[in-house]
Amino acid sequence: MFQLPHSPLELIKDPLLTPYGVNLYLKRDDLIHPEVTGNKWRKLKFNLIEARLQGYDKLLTFGGAYSNHIYATAAAGKEFGFKTVGIIRGDELTPYSNPTLRFAHEQGMELIFVTRLDYSFRNKLTKQYGDKYYVLPEGGTNHLAIKGVNEMMDEIYEVIKPDFVCSAVGTGGTLAGIVSGLRGNSKAIGFASLKGKGLLKGQIEKILPFEKDFELNEQYHFDGYAKTTPELISFIRAFEERNPSIQLEQVYTGKMMFGIYDLIKKGYFPRNTNIVAVHTGGLQGRCEELRENFVLSYAS
Ligand SMILES: Cc1ncc(COP(=O)(O)O)c(C=O)c1O
Repeated sequence: MFQLPHSPLELIKDPLLTPYGVNLYLKRDDLIHPEVTGNKWRKLKFNLIEARLQGYDKLLTFGGAYSNHIYATAAAGKEFGFKTVGIIRGDELTPYSNPTLRFAHEQGMELIFVTRLDYSFRNKLTKQYGDKYYVLPEGGTNHLAIKGVNEMMDEIYEVIKPDFVCSAVGTGGTLAGIVSGLRGNSKAIGFASLKGKGLLKGQIEKILPFEKDFELNEQYHFDGYAKTTPELISFIRAFEERNPSIQLEQVYTGKMMFGIYDLIKKGYFPRNTNIVAVHTGGLQGRCEELRENFVLSYAS
């Protein structure tokens, strides 16, 4: 019952890439479902199965005001018949503060707004609110999330043998799933969306179910989480104009694609390399400048 379709693996036919002789594929997890997209579905799937097996009909989770995980959990709850509660960081917020919270509220998620200090004690909050709920951690990363991402890796290997599999990195759960699903000589590269303090690689190593090497690139975070520059926005706009069936967003997938293109231009990947970039969804978080662009490029 917790089944959504496999996502396509699409070869990017971009004239900008022709001189470099690499094959860039996009794993279109953004197309899995209109709302439960990308890595969110991968991370939720086995958790929903487990919740149902354990007899829960309510999910509880945590997130910030713009959390894609809150958005997707609310939608998944509605789709698969779970009540949902979201504990949200920021007691000044309301269900109408932004489109993410409004959407979650409209899906029937009960939103509980707590101070930043209280939010930092999530174990305490879990005890206070969570005894009748199946609790998903912030960002949705746990061992069942990794199992879900492994399933995506199986889908990729059914089609090609990738030399590199790339993903945007927030908590690192998605990258851990990718790394643990690698076969043969394939390598993984994570592109950090946040400006870390040098701790992220170690945190991801802790999530990994076994020791395995991977690369974490921290050069393309554009000064931190949700920060953008005109260069990043122009890159995304130009990419979408050349590839009109694909949208990116500026928090995760745009930064990853910028990084991949830059590394390709710098000759990082040998010719004939198969690079798979995972589209982890999150398109509801596209900023105003990109939304305008999409309308314009389609109108013209
Ligand atoms: C669209 C999108 N891509 C990538 C990520 C990063 O995933 P992870 O937290 O597993 O590193 C997130 C995280 O929230 C996300 O919303």
